[in-house]
Amino acid sequence: MSLADRLASAQRDRSRTTPSTSASTPTSVDGVSAAPRTVRDPFADLKRVVHRQLVSDLGPQLYDVDMTQAELEQQVRAALQGAVVGNEQPMSGADRARIAQEIADDILGYGPLEPYLRDDELTEVMVNRADDIFVERGGRLTRVEAAFLDEAHLRRTIDKIVGKVGRRVDETSPMVDARLPDGSRVNAVIPPLALDGSMLTIRKFSADAFTAGDLVDAGTLTRPAADVLAACVRGKLNLLVSGGTGAGKTTTLNVLSSFIGSDERIVTIEDAAELRLHQDHVLRLEARPANIEGKGAVTIRDLVRNALRMRPDRIVVGEIRDAAALDMLQAMNTGHDGSLSTVHANSPRDALARVETMVMMAGMDLPVRAIREQTSSAVDVIVQQVRLKDGGRRVTAITEVVGMEGDIITLQDVFLFDFSAGYDEHGTALGQLRPTGLRPRFLEGLGRAGVHLDPAVFTGGGETR
Ligand SMILES: Nc1ncnc2c1ncn2[C@@H]1O[C@H](COP(=O)(O)OP(=O)(O)O)[C@@H](O)[C@H]1O
Ligand SMILES: [Mg+2]
Repeated sequence: MSLADRLASAQRDRSRTTPSTSASTPTSVDGVSAAPRTVRDPFADLKRVVHRQLVSDLGPQLYDVDMTQAELEQQVRAALQGAVVGNEQPMSGADRARIAQEIADDILGYGPLEPYLRDDELTEVMVNRADDIFVERGGRLTRVEAAFLDEAHLRRTIDKIVGKVGRRVDETSPMVDARLPDGSRVNAVIPPLALDGSMLTIRKFSADAFTAGDLVDAGTLTRPAADVLAACVRGKLNLLVSGGTGAGKTTTLNVLSSFIGSDERIVTIEDAAELRLHQDHVLRLEARPANIEGKGAVTIRDLVRNALRMRPDRIVVGEIRDAAALDMLQAMNTGHDGSLSTVHANSPRDALARVETMVMMAGMDLPVRAIREQTSSAVDVIVQQVRLKDGGRRVTAITEVVGMEGDIITLQDVFLFDFSAGYDEHGTALGQLRPTGLRPRFLEGLGRAGVHLDPAVFTGGGETR
């Protein structure tokens, strides 16, 4: 199934039902009955015994950082061989191989989650409890039969995931964010915060990142609007994508970043690495929270400052938060053009207000007017995006930051979503992102940078889709 199909089917599913996220009812979720627990693997008990035996035999070796994966694998397989052979239950060679594989998966990989992590059609894997696992496919939640042996097994798996990225989770820090090697994002919460046992939520990294074409197909952007944004990125304007949580900001940022030339040196800075750039020259940095003693934190702000010493052509910051805003503005104003980032805000005007507040958090005591001047000269274009009730995402405004009038930053909308067309019976917005007819001032600058756009796209000439 192509990405566009997946999006379309996710959207259809969402418009039919709103999937329940509080999936605590044991019988039914989202109209789908729970998978029967009675269909059991006849060797489940054997697996359990062998697994426990191995874990206690291998003990600390399982977490020995000096041991290579290959060595560990060898140890596990040897121990496994002994345990399975020593068992009296009659079994075929095929069963033996399968059991050995499953136990090896449990110990070396992510246990019962492995098949779901490998399934590209799933978007989320959610462990509510050791024996209560859900997956999301096309926007729908379903309970799956897989289960961890017990809470300890789940905890070991969580430790393994977070340990790989140098984090840890225990009673004093019972919530943690991490990432799987493939880029999937992981959140874990353990007792005492999680009342019924540890919880694990994995937002899977889609195998193929969204392209501009996908965003057009999904109705998030129109083709002319996408062309304008591509020109803005190529012409090295500074862009901010603004929107609420889950509006698709990071996804759009990734698409915008794809328009950067492959001869440019790009530094990406994120809290949790999500961006996927395919250019040749990408340097990825990830912030780090403080350790248990409250030390060792490296913030987005630290990384932005450091990035300036790395001779970047472009700086892409996953999300502007707190005082990092000041450093971002300074970077944008000191020749690091073409920077891209996102900000959590409800409108382009609100995005500027948020930036202003965040700059104040830097504690430099800058006068408001000075902050606004910096902001207006740094930011060129704001892309506003929303998540609609039906689950679709729409760019609702492409807005140019024009300059200052008195103490106020002047904005000019270049494209606006036409909500006056109303909604269909599924709650899908019928309108479109339309040019306002105003010719942006940045057009001239783009021309000077050698990036040419047909001015007709701003007046609605030609096709709008
Ligand atoms: N344009 C889009 N259309 C449909 N779904 C999208 C779109 N952009 C993102 N999504 C989905 O929405 C979720 C959140 O996207 P993300 O870009 O992380 O949002 P944000 O950064 O605003 O929190 C992801 O699961 C992604 O697959
Ligand atoms: Mg995001």
